[in-house]
Amino acid sequence: MKITASITYYYFFCFLLVILLISAKAFAEEGNGNAEQPAEVKKSDFPDGFLFGVSTSSYQIEGAILDDDKSLSNWDVFVRKRGSVNNGDTADIAADHYHRYLEDIEIIHSLGVDAYRFSISWARILPRGKLGDVNPAGIMFYNKIIDNLLIRGIKPFVTIHHYDFPQELLDRYGGWLSPFMQDDYAHFAETCFKYFGDRVRYWITMNEANLLSELAYEKGIYPPGRCSPPFGNCSAGNSDIEPLIAMHNMLLAHSKAVKLYREQFQHKQGGMMGVAVSAMMYEPLSDDELDKEAANRALAFSLAWGLDPLVYGDYPPEMRRYHGKELPTFTSEEKQLLSNSTDFIGLNHYATVYAKDCIYSNCMCSNSTCLPGENRAIKGFVSTITERDGVPIGEPTGMFQTFIVPRGIKEIVDYAKKRYPDKPVFIVENGYCPPWEHGEVDDLRHDTKRVEYHKAYIASLAQAIRDGADVRGYFIWTLMDAFEWSSGYDLKFGLYSLDRVTLNRIPRLSAKWYRDFLRKTSLKDLESRSAIPAINQDGLVPNVKDGSAEMA
Ligand code: BGC
Repeated sequence: MKITASITYYYFFCFLLVILLISAKAFAEEGNGNAEQPAEVKKSDFPDGFLFGVSTSSYQIEGAILDDDKSLSNWDVFVRKRGSVNNGDTADIAADHYHRYLEDIEIIHSLGVDAYRFSISWARILPRGKLGDVNPAGIMFYNKIIDNLLIRGIKPFVTIHHYDFPQELLDRYGGWLSPFMQDDYAHFAETCFKYFGDRVRYWITMNEANLLSELAYEKGIYPPGRCSPPFGNCSAGNSDIEPLIAMHNMLLAHSKAVKLYREQFQHKQGGMMGVAVSAMMYEPLSDDELDKEAANRALAFSLAWGLDPLVYGDYPPEMRRYHGKELPTFTSEEKQLLSNSTDFIGLNHYATVYAKDCIYSNCMCSNSTCLPGENRAIKGFVSTITERDGVPIGEPTGMFQTFIVPRGIKEIVDYAKKRYPDKPVFIVENGYCPPWEHGEVDDLRHDTKRVEYHKAYIASLAQAIRDGADVRGYFIWTLMDAFEWSSGYDLKFGLYSLDRVTLNRIPRLSAKWYRDFLRKTSLKDLESRSAIPAINQDGLVPNVKDGSAEMA
């Protein structure tokens, strides 16, 4: 009897101990702000036809700054201004993709991706914008890329404009501050549809107009480098107003390009038009209603700023409520043009931050950790914070205010699902760069952190899809280490490391992991991949240069 009682006590004690340990672990993880465990995720967790891919952009990898009649772009000029880019780096050579594109396409093919997202250099195909002629060498270059992708069964996912445009347009009109850019952009887009549209089924009109407006016209760290205090010390600009004007022109430019495509090309070419927005997730800093509202406001002032006009034809009501007349208005004709002007939504997701109210709380910058101007309308009266009670929101990465928070990708997709229920979503960028202080270490090929990062984000995305989100693709940023804008070559996002001396592309562990992840694919997928025909000396695949390639 006594023995039985002791055994019962013993088991009860063990049971209590286990419960205690589990709760302690959960508590510790909660305290860390990082209660997420990387879940094992498989390609088969995603629906049929889901596109896995990699993303790049022209300026960040092409190099060949003036080859074959390309003109100088706004970035080519900006990087030459002292202090604009870390270490004085330029993208004159970048990854020399212009000359090594075939090798790169082989690499992309070896990963087993379904799609490749890249952008077109405006200055390469229209060196003088609308004022000048089309540059045949530029057209030829992108034809070769598109053809070589298609022949390998890889779908081209083309961004028309990813930050770089001919410097002449900046000199002539002042870039995106001018409504003249709208027609110049529409001409550029039309040129792309005309020359490439027979083979491209996925178009992104612009990359991150919302972030570009902020970085170029509020913080002044992207060309043309305009801003005003307290946001920065530029020689000219107005950080409270100009981002709104630049965005206004980009949104209208998008709508004009889409009108053109729908009226003149879509019925023949059958592609989809979308847009890519910077999609930061905001969580309330506390349970306080004011912080909850601040998080909603922040989402409206960032994501919805770029998307509401393209879905509903006007700026988010939240922005109208807090902005004065500095927020431009659309005419009724423009509203009509904008409304439903995107077939899909592209999200570039990297970061999740906490949002704190600055309407009723004091957000004046008092120390070096806070960002200036958060108590202004242009920031939605929201302070963005990455710690709660001294605990970071996730593990750090090399990018400012960017921590590893896999749940964020599901949260932002859920937000888009709720706000734009009829629009399919593609995650067109998601990537990891190691923290600066470990730059040397993490440049080693064994990038386990990046592998864990993608596993966890992809698993969280799979959960969003299981919960009903219509997500159709996921693209890793980026194929290989590239020119990271004002950070130069200091940030490394690549699945491939790039030797800056030899320009050799060296696969990291993450490249191998992605390939293995994608290989676990269905027989049907494998069968749809065509054999690769021979390529001639010019990098052209016979019979496809004028668009006769079959879509994969
Ligand atoms: C941009 C990319 C950039 C990436 C990482 C995105 O906002 O679209 O061009 O390289 O962030 O910084």
